[in-house]
Amino acid sequence: MAYQVLARKWRPQSFGELMGQEHVAQTLVNALKSSRMPHALLFTGPRGVGKTSAARILAKSLRCTNAKDFVPCNECHDCLEITAGNAIDVIEVDGASNNGVENIRELRETIGYMPSRGKYKIYIIDEVHMLSTSAFNALLKTLEEPPAHVIFIFATTEPQKIPVTILSRCQRFDFRRIPARKVVERLKTIIEAEGVTAEPQALWLIGRESEGSMRDSQSLLDQVITFCGKNITHDQVVDVLGLTDRTLLSQTLGALIARDVPTSLDIIEKVFHLGYDPKQFAQDLLHHLRNLMIVKVTVDTGKENLQLEFLDLPDEEITELKKFSENLSEEDVHLLFDMTLKGVQDVVRAQDPRIVLEMLLLRLTQAPRITSIDKLLAQVSGGGGSLKPQTTQVKGTPAKVTVKTDIYTDKWSGLLENIKKDKPLLAAKLEYAAIKSLDNEKLSLTFRKEQEFFYNQVSTKEVVGQLMELVGKYWGRPYEVEVLLNKSGEGLASPQEQKETAAEKHIKDQREKIEAHPLVKEAKSLLKAKITSIKASEDI
Ligand SMILES: Nc1ncnc2c1ncn2[C@@H]1O[C@H](COP(=O)(O)OP(=O)(O)OP(=O)(O)O)[C@@H](O)[C@H]1O
Ligand SMILES: [Mg+2]
Ligand SMILES: [Zn+2]
Repeated sequence: MAYQVLARKWRPQSFGELMGQEHVAQTLVNALKSSRMPHALLFTGPRGVGKTSAARILAKSLRCTNAKDFVPCNECHDCLEITAGNAIDVIEVDGASNNGVENIRELRETIGYMPSRGKYKIYIIDEVHMLSTSAFNALLKTLEEPPAHVIFIFATTEPQKIPVTILSRCQRFDFRRIPARKVVERLKTIIEAEGVTAEPQALWLIGRESEGSMRDSQSLLDQVITFCGKNITHDQVVDVLGLTDRTLLSQTLGALIARDVPTSLDIIEKVFHLGYDPKQFAQDLLHHLRNLMIVKVTVDTGKENLQLEFLDLPDEEITELKKFSENLSEEDVHLLFDMTLKGVQDVVRAQDPRIVLEMLLLRLTQAPRITSIDKLLAQVSGGGGSLKPQTTQVKGTPAKVTVKTDIYTDKWSGLLENIKKDKPLLAAKLEYAAIKSLDNEKLSLTFRKEQEFFYNQVSTKEVVGQLMELVGKYWGRPYEVEVLLNKSGEGLASPQEQKETAAEKHIKDQREKIEAHPLVKEAKSLLKAKITSIKASEDI
């Protein structure tokens, strides 16, 4: 018997075998069960996803006399004829080669005749978008009033090329790309039946490469079997199909996460040694980072159940990505992704893609890592828990400041408060003086050397005169006032200076307290950071 390619040999013969198109199968079966089968159906979708197969299965379901619940027997005369493609009442027309108006006219002439047997005559027009405008017009007439025994099934990969007049007379079914996971499942069934063995990774390579087309996957499998014989390995598939080695991709990711420069350089060497296309490699890396991001966010949000939906990857790769993601924050992955995205564009444009890819990998390997604050805090507080409860100790209320004061401080401050009411400007200057001595007759004020500027303004005869008046007024009797300058630079601190040192001391104390706190110390060493400023926060 002549060799039959896998794709034809393994054409699904029932809706149950039609993978990834359950939504279509379900609707069709429902229509059959409720006898609401439309007279014109349009099957659209990418190449090799089961449109023609579904049309034949539907034809069988409509015509098989042994069908149970509209599942064809695949054994009767009708079923076998349809499978072989030579049934009299199931007319398959290739729209690409029969696209003229005369072809449709011929077809219309046969429509009036009843089926040779059974209830339905089925016309399957493949590649219907290839029909000429006049052919479409000829078809339109038939579609307006189709005989009860006729069912049209149109199939196309390009529905946008079909006139709306036709579209509006059809019930449309959109076939989808088939996820690699399902393709791999089908390939497994096939190789087992064919007596072929294959490493799971090898089937995944084929599944991924066929981009959702089951027919493509089966053609690739044919090709690989021809080259490799009955035992297929991952490496052989990489070789035969010229694909990027997935292990190389995961090594790359591993190296750049571990910031392992030598391995990165090694990988670049391999990429070129094996003759990979730098653009493809960068693109694949970008896609893998996207997968990493999906893993990261689904794990972080406790939505791991969504992974299967968004990651068309073998389980081992998902597990590996999970491990990678543990050492990265979401920000890290974003950063790596953004860098790679830009890198891909650079590699595509580059005169010498190799060096651009080289630089990209090195930059990625050396990219700064933003460690997640949550993770750090968890480590700081000994795993789990948050920093908040302990920070109350750090913050505290401002400590009551006690600064050593001389015996006259209170008296002097009291007097200054009063002077402020009469002569605020003078009081502001006097704030820089201290009482050196006070007895029943005389008040001696002193400025330190640093405050000479104020001393000069206050020690004039005129100001001293004013002062004596004010002292007399507030202390109830006349005093002599003397204003001195302490040239040595030392001396008593004025109220203003006392305030300043108190504030400084308070800040210094607080700062020391904060820096000495074990949590802060730990954070500093973990982050290898230094404290540049300390701010009070409202919410802790
Ligand atoms: N959904 C599917 N489940 C299982 N096998 C499929 C599926 N889709 C396609 N195949 C395989 O691919 C082959 C081609 O499928 P089919 O002719 O139905 O695709 P198609 O959608 O009509 O493609 P085209 O648009 O290129 O005509 C089938 O013989 C079968 O082996
Ligand atoms: Mg087809
Ligand atoms: Zn049958």
